[in-house]
Amino acid sequence: MKAIGICGSTRKNGTDFAVRRALEILEKEYGVETTYFTVRGKKINMCIHCDDCVKKNTKTCTIFTDDISHINEEFLASDIIILGSPIFEMGMSPQMSAILSRSRPNYNALKEDPNVFYDKLGMAIAVGGARNGGQEMTINSLHGFFHTNGMIPIGASMGVYNGAAIWSQDKVPFTKDVDEYGIKNLDTLTRKVGETLKLIKGIK
Ligand SMILES: Cc1cc2nc3c(=O)[nH]c(=O)nc-3n(C[C@H](O)[C@H](O)[C@H](O)COP(=O)(O)O)c2cc1C
Repeated sequence: MKAIGICGSTRKNGTDFAVRRALEILEKEYGVETTYFTVRGKKINMCIHCDDCVKKNTKTCTIFTDDISHINEEFLASDIIILGSPIFEMGMSPQMSAILSRSRPNYNALKEDPNVFYDKLGMAIAVGGARNGGQEMTINSLHGFFHTNGMIPIGASMGVYNGAAIWSQDKVPFTKDVDEYGIKNLDTLTRKVGETLKLIKGIK
């Protein structure tokens, strides 16, 4: 069982903390093999909609070779995909948006097999400086990636709802005490993802 966690922040702060924490829970409590990827210091190009990958039916982008060229293969190989983004203008960061835009070749995989992602679980984390800074909207946009690929976005009850909404208060460094409630919800959501994976895999 594999999970990839993407941190869409160029900083080592709230989003990095949250994505790493979720991966640690999955690894320690559910025996999931985890991979962490951060946009920090990475060369990332965004999709320019040339559709060359679609025309040539390739698995990866045909025109850009950069630090995210391997990400689509990682998505295909993972059971759990965690997308964590800092909030920029009440939406996801431009780096996270660039990564998701480059998943255009997934269309080729889906044409061949519309169920290629059907049992993959998606979890979204949004970290904002303001308490109501666009966390829910950002999470919904991240869920858009899971929906367009036919994955299963995971939410939870008792105030967690669509994802882990974290309020960093723009504090650097971010610690769990900055937003105890947000981190409690992150843990709850992560365990829901772990339990759902067990259900899907038929693990008691
Ligand atoms: C360009 C820019 C736009 C931002 N827009 C928002 C926003 O709309 N809502 C919000 O809550 N925080 C906003 N912030 C604050 C960041 O989301 C916040 O500092 C967050 O903790 C950054 O994530 P990090 O701690 O992982 O680096 C913005 C920050 C930047 C640089």
